[in-house]
Formats: sequence, C-alpha cells, structure tokens
Amino acid sequence: MSNRMVLSYTNSFALFRPKFNGHFIPSIYHSDVLSLTRHVSSTTALSFCQLQASKHHDSAVTVASDVRYGSKQIISVDSTLYDYILTNVREPKILRELREETATMRGSQMQVSPDQAQLLAMLVQILGAKRCIEVGTYTGYSSLAVALVLPEGGHLVACDRDGKAIEVAKRYYDRAGVSHKVDVRHGLAADTLKSLIQNGESCRYDFAFVDAEKKMYQEYFELLLQLVRVGGLIVVDNVLWHGRVSDPLVNDSKTLSIRNFNENLMKDNRVDISMVPIGDGMTICRKR
Ligand SMILES: C[S@@+](CC[C@H](N)C(=O)[O-])C[C@H]1O[C@@H](n2cnc3c(N)ncnc32)[C@H](O)[C@@H]1O
Repeated sequence: MSNRMVLSYTNSFALFRPKFNGHFIPSIYHSDVLSLTRHVSSTTALSFCQLQASKHHDSAVTVASDVRYGSKQIISVDSTLYDYILTNVREPKILRELREETATMRGSQMQVSPDQAQLLAMLVQILGAKRCIEVGTYTGYSSLAVALVLPEGGHLVACDRDGKAIEVAKRYYDRAGVSHKVDVRHGLAADTLKSLIQNGESCRYDFAFVDAEKKMYQEYFELLLQLVRVGGLIVVDNVLWHGRVSDPLVNDSKTLSIRNFNENLMKDNRVDISMVPIGDGMTICRKR
C-alpha cells in the first residue's frame, strides 16, 4: 500500500503532496514551490552537473539554454497549475462518483489520479486494445476508466486480493454497464497471472497496468511480458515513488525495489520505455 502522491519536481529533492486528501481540489501547501518562470542561467549550454547545481538554487530545472532563444525548462507543477490540469480532465460522471465514494474509504490515496486514468484510457484507445489486464484494482477507478473505452467485445482481467474493495469495483462496473467486459480475479495477482499463462493465454493481451505490491514489480513484469503480445503495452505506476528513488539516502525496501526495477528496465532490450512524470510517475513499456 502506498500513499498516492502527485509528484512535483521543482527542487533538489522531488517535492510531493497528497493527491486528493479526500477532496477533488487538492490541498497542497509547500513553501518550496516557487515561480514557474524563473531562469537558471543565460549561458548557451548547461552540463548535467550545472543542471544539478541549478536545481539547488532555483525552482525550475533548465535542460538547455540559449542566449538568443532563452531556456528550455521542465515545468514544475504547483497546486494552482495542478488544479488547472484537473479542470482539463474529462472525467466521466461515473468515475467522479466512484472517486467520491472511495474518498470516504481507507486507502483512498492509492487510487490513480483523474489525469492518470485519462492517460491510461487514451493509451488503450490509441492501441485499439481489446484484451487488458490490471494488477491492483482496489475500488476500480483505473479499471473502470479502461473498461469504459474498451469495445463491446473487450475483456479486462482485474486482479486484487482485497475482497471488500473488489465489491465496490463490481458495483460501479454494473452501474456503468461494463460488467460483461470485466473478469474480476480475487486473489494474489501473481497467482492469477500464472494461471492465465498456464491456460494458454500467453501473447493474447494488448495492454496491462501494474499498480499492486511494489516489491513484486519485477515478478509482475516478467509474467506480463509473457501475456502481452509484441507491440502491446505494460504501464507501471509509482515508478518515481514520491521522489524517493532519486534520493540516495532513502533505502527502505520498497524504494530499493522500485529503484532496482527502474534500473533493470533501462537495460531491458525486450521493451521500449518512456517514464512519464504524471501522478507518482508511470513508465510505459512497449513489448518489442
Ligand atoms: C494502489 S492500489 C490500486 C489502485 C487502483 N489501480 C486504482 O486506481 O484505484 C493497490 C491494490 O493492490 C492490491 N494488492 C496489493 N498486493 C497485492 C497482491 N499481491 N495481489 C493482489 N492484489 C494486491 C491491494 O489490495 C490494493 O487494492
């Protein structure tokens, strides 16, 4: 279980904040989040070291700078900008209602954010995915976002070990009219994935989303790599782990697992990868 954070990458160490705190409008207060428009340097190029140094003294990270054309900066997301992002998310009413109900429950901070859910749905649509797997469903927010955009004959295997959370998810699949698309598997996710492989379903899935036990990420990934077809996607959540992955002083077991997973993925020539700083960080992997 993790505290779901929306990562703000504005300083030497990543800053972070509770995602919703039980409300749609996030309550975010952090004195270090400064102006988005401050410039680091007017030199023509910055080395990585300069870059690192600049991060200690300024709020924005400059990745390139040119005397004539100015700086190329990585945008930092403060509460005002994140509110703006949320006003540009097309969250279906049924998802909003599920999010509001989940906000009253224990563990609600684990849910993906509306902007993340929208990205997952978009990836499924771009891919034309028909068969999907989710590892870590909780009350169903991300899986419902996916099920809503699957075609009528689409199929989503939703794995979770928490029977109570699954009951909420099923109620919302019903209300949204997508129950026929979702195959809920109550139990340990790795066991479910192994049973799919044993049932001859290797290479039969287009899309997978990983959002369960962090220490199991490598195992989930290996199993999903068997289940997903060439060209299919495996999207992995929490890869920035509230910014702890980049802090050498943080070495608890979950941080180490995710850091190792990220390192392995960098070297893994079975997939193309893109790490996206949305929510708590998601890596999109495409099977080669
Ligand atoms: C971060 S939450 C998932 C949130 C969900 N994707 C959403 O957006 O609402 C993680 C879920 O993984 C489940 N989980 C953790 N370890 C698991 C395991 N070994 N097998 C199956 N489910 C697991 C937890 O019960 C929890 O519901």
